[in-house]
Amino acid sequence: MNTPILVTGGTGTIGRRTVPLLRAAGRDVRILTRHPRASEPGVEHVAGDTVRGTGLDAALAGVATVLHLAGGAKGDDVAAQTLVAAAQRAGVRHLVLISVIGADRMPIGYFRMKAAAERTVEQSGIPFTILRVAQLHEFAVPIVKTLSNMRIAPRGLRFESVGVDDVAARLAELTLGDPAGRVADLAGPQVHEVAEMVRSFDSACGTSRRSLGIRIPGAVGRAYRAGDNLADPSVVRGRTTWEEFLAA
Ligand SMILES: NC(=O)c1ccc[n+]([C@@H]2O[C@H](COP(=O)([O-])OP(=O)(O)OC[C@H]3O[C@@H](n4cnc5c(N)ncnc54)[C@H](OP(=O)(O)O)[C@@H]3O)[C@@H](O)[C@H]2O)c1
Repeated sequence: MNTPILVTGGTGTIGRRTVPLLRAAGRDVRILTRHPRASEPGVEHVAGDTVRGTGLDAALAGVATVLHLAGGAKGDDVAAQTLVAAAQRAGVRHLVLISVIGADRMPIGYFRMKAAAERTVEQSGIPFTILRVAQLHEFAVPIVKTLSNMRIAPRGLRFESVGVDDVAARLAELTLGDPAGRVADLAGPQVHEVAEMVRSFDSACGTSRRSLGIRIPGAVGRAYRAGDNLADPSVVRGRTTWEEFLAA
């Protein structure tokens, strides 16, 4: 029987790349979205909101596996609670959660919210898999662009951004597999000083600018300089480099 896999956030940057891989593996997919659109063969869209808790019981009917990707700047901790409560009611047997590398270390609200979502899933009693992922190359671009325009480069700030297809492939593999608990982090192939990323971004844009090194103050600066946003040594590294991403 091909019970659908529920993908929250299936319309997002990562979800749009992951859903086709689940389809290619022969699985039907149900996407929970605040803006439902026409369904297509094997991919059904259902209306719901993970933060408000609407539509979840209907979305989870007959579902054994959930891939929870929905997220935003705020509310992911609440969303995890509403989704877990509904998944418990529905008897879900595998809940896969994407999280962010450094969730339990970085003194920033977004990371704390992701750590809270992880705890909710870990304590849910539902068999789970949690994958912490580095920032996507796509999401590093606005930061690098802003730094380039301002001609500044925070010293000691490093990123190991990752390609979206590497993330989608790993999420699909984990979603189709058995619950595995917290698995190895997934990051990009290289750890870069942000100043290097700005230089390669400028070069890809055909410009060359000198940047002024600055120091990020306070606890956040200390955490970044300590590499608290970087993966554990057990990390799995994706294949697409920052330079390949920029060239494409
Ligand atoms: N991008 C990164 O660099 C990165 C790195 C590590 C982890 N992550 C995590 O990976 C997940 C997906 O990231 P992404 O980059 O693909 O995000 P995205 O492109 O911003 O897409 C966000 C997705 O979440 C859904 N969503 C947001 N709020 C929702 C709500 N209240 N109820 C239902 N759906 C909601 C949106 O669906 P609709 O608009 O259709 O409702 C959309 O599909 C997020 O949890 C993010 O924190 C991202």
